[in-house]
Amino acid sequence: MAEEKIEKRRIMLVGTGLVGMSFAYSMLHEKGIDEMVLVDVNHDKAMGEAMDLQDGMVYAETKMKVYAGSYEDAQYCNVVVITAGAAQKPGQSRLELVKINASITKGVCEQLKKNGFNGILIVANNPVDIMTYVAWKASGLPKEHVIGSGTVLDTARLRLELGNRLGFAESNMHAYILGEHGDSSFVSWTNSYIGCKSLLEYLDEKHISLMELQNIYVDVRDKAYKIIDLKKATYYGIGLALKRIVSAVLNNERCILPVSSYQNGEYGKTGYFIGTPTVVGSDGASQIMRLPLTENDQDRFNKSFDTLEATIRDNLG
Ligand code: LAC
Repeated sequence: MAEEKIEKRRIMLVGTGLVGMSFAYSMLHEKGIDEMVLVDVNHDKAMGEAMDLQDGMVYAETKMKVYAGSYEDAQYCNVVVITAGAAQKPGQSRLELVKINASITKGVCEQLKKNGFNGILIVANNPVDIMTYVAWKASGLPKEHVIGSGTVLDTARLRLELGNRLGFAESNMHAYILGEHGDSSFVSWTNSYIGCKSLLEYLDEKHISLMELQNIYVDVRDKAYKIIDLKKATYYGIGLALKRIVSAVLNNERCILPVSSYQNGEYGKTGYFIGTPTVVGSDGASQIMRLPLTENDQDRFNKSFDTLEATIRDNLG
């Protein structure tokens, strides 16, 4: 019988820093991946990381070939994840990284384009909504094939906090952080549920004040700053958030994640990427789910989108 050509599932990671390697390590527990290619401007670092992961593979749940490679390998990859870039310093906002990381992102994506990458591109360096736009422009990929990590991590933080404060499993806390992965994000409380029950109805029945919710949001919004003050960087949370997105793509889950996706007007704005509930599968970010926003929510969405647009205009020309 003619040997059946089994298409190998390959992912490429560009950037073997703490975020990238937290993602890479988490992928050792993801079945069904044949190869993971590590690319870094410091090739020795990529080689060392690959060798270290290979050692752990002996005891890992899955077996994949991990190696240090180059952009030439991109043409054979289903997914590329970009984590390369400068990280926030204590007290620094994500938006302050726009110039240096736009230059890095542009250079990476030009290399991917030059080497024929035609898969799904997942962007995680900050400010991620803007870096996703830069990656889209430089990679030449369809806008649905370029996905930013968006507010997937923020939403995890929100669900964790809500579950802890209200006493429910975070998996039943259906609420999203929307907008910028940053200081202008917001929560649409009218679109938040505990299981199938309105969160606001629950709070009303339990006589819990809405101010409690706003305190929760502030804690979630500022959590990265707190972690960075304590340990100089965040990486496990974003690493696992990236794994969640990559798994959704590779397994064609068509799940709904608040990734940074290209806006076609679903929330009244177009032309840039921002965190909105989006269907994620093997065809990338295929559909943005439109939530009914209150006037106040729409105002906060507009402010968040306009912040990103102004930052692009003022810094990237
Ligand atoms: C954070 C980084 C990934 O929120 O922006 O931890």
